[in-house]
Amino acid sequence: MSKNNIINLRCFDQEIGKIGYDENLNKSYFQYNPAFLKSGIYSNLFPLIFKRVEQTQVFSQYNNDTFRNLPPMIADSLPDMFGNLIFKTWLESNGFEKITALEQLAYVANRGMGALEYEPIAHIPRNTSINLDEIITVLKKVMRQKSNTISDGMDTEALINIFKIGSSAGGAQPKILISENKKSGKIIPGDVEYSNQYHHYLVKLHLDDEHRYNKCLIEYSYFLTAQCLDIEMMCSKLIDNKHFATLRYDRQNGEKQHTLTASGLTGWDFRNPQISSYENLFNLANYLKVPHHDIHELFKRMVFNVVFANADDHLKNHAFIYNEISNEWQLAPAYDMTYSLNPILNYKKSSRALSINNKRVDINREDLLKIAKENTIKNPKSIIDKTVQAIAYWQQQAQIAGISDKIISNMKRDFWN
Ligand SMILES: Nc1ncnc2c1ncn2[C@@H]1O[C@H](COP(=O)(O)OP(=O)(O)OP(=O)(O)O)[C@@H](O)[C@H]1O
Ligand SMILES: [Mg+2]
Repeated sequence: MSKNNIINLRCFDQEIGKIGYDENLNKSYFQYNPAFLKSGIYSNLFPLIFKRVEQTQVFSQYNNDTFRNLPPMIADSLPDMFGNLIFKTWLESNGFEKITALEQLAYVANRGMGALEYEPIAHIPRNTSINLDEIITVLKKVMRQKSNTISDGMDTEALINIFKIGSSAGGAQPKILISENKKSGKIIPGDVEYSNQYHHYLVKLHLDDEHRYNKCLIEYSYFLTAQCLDIEMMCSKLIDNKHFATLRYDRQNGEKQHTLTASGLTGWDFRNPQISSYENLFNLANYLKVPHHDIHELFKRMVFNVVFANADDHLKNHAFIYNEISNEWQLAPAYDMTYSLNPILNYKKSSRALSINNKRVDINREDLLKIAKENTIKNPKSIIDKTVQAIAYWQQQAQIAGISDKIISNMKRDFWN
């Protein structure tokens, strides 16, 4: 495998700059392409962290598992737990040893989430068809064996496919990217195709058996409830009545959208509780000068997460989208809006990923109203009331989706009332 110590960063057909990496010194470097800087276009592509200067910029402060010594906006292109597991399995099955974060970017290449692209491109064999059952069989093996030696007895073709379509997105849950032809319904790998002839989906897979409940059904019931509360989400559906498929907000109108998570934009490590607060998230949204409608929307999402016990609403579960025509940022649609605990276990109290009014448990109306006041939200009490009233709607949808009464009543114990 080639040892790339420098890689080109591209976006919207422009060469934005070069990224360097020194594994021994735990440092990375970034230098803007002078012609790109001079042109003045897309000047708000990276509103934080990169200075708009020609000199090389050095980064040594992002030395942790989240950013892997890279500038955070670049680290956002790398997968999290699930994608890294697939990555490791594929590398091992091909006889490769561990590779650096920068080398991993060569595999992300032009297949990553969002619009950032990396060159040179590491070669991956192409194949065009997808068989969901086959993918699930291989994924079950991968997940079961986790960190053991895993490459034995894997169907190579299926593994390549999983590598291509399962190693880009972030998050801990098993997921793949697929594209569905709007006319023929044919499903192809969703890594490089982004034309308007397809619907582009991120699919969270239910691998059966492991749990006595299906997380995807729960996420779908949350999606329906969020939609009913006018919370902005991409259209989502169930595949085979058990996998949760959501349209990708970073592939719209046949174009790639430049998107970054709150963590990637700022360098706030989503695992660090000290900076993980809704106050910081609102401050970031205000700093980015998103329309006031988005601030209002963010408030609705916060209330939803509190009422419906989504405690895992961390800084990588909120994202922003760049509009390359207006050079402005806005809030991305909501995603990963789901019950974050295991409904089979009994929890006394669950601590929230994002604090509210310096609290992670027992959030009350006053805490929510304080945030509303700070952000001049109109009628916050009515937003809270409507969200609490939607618990009944959620219950209906959960029953229709086939979630058992026992799970429903366990979940409701954690809801607000
Ligand atoms: N509809 C979407 N369009 C584009 N990107 C998305 C979409 N939904 C999620 N993503 C991206 O994929 C990542 C993983 O998705 P998601 O958070 O739903 O998965 P997860 O495995 O449940 O995550 P977690 O580890 O937080 O539980 C997100 O951080 C986000 O960057
Ligand atoms: Mg997530």
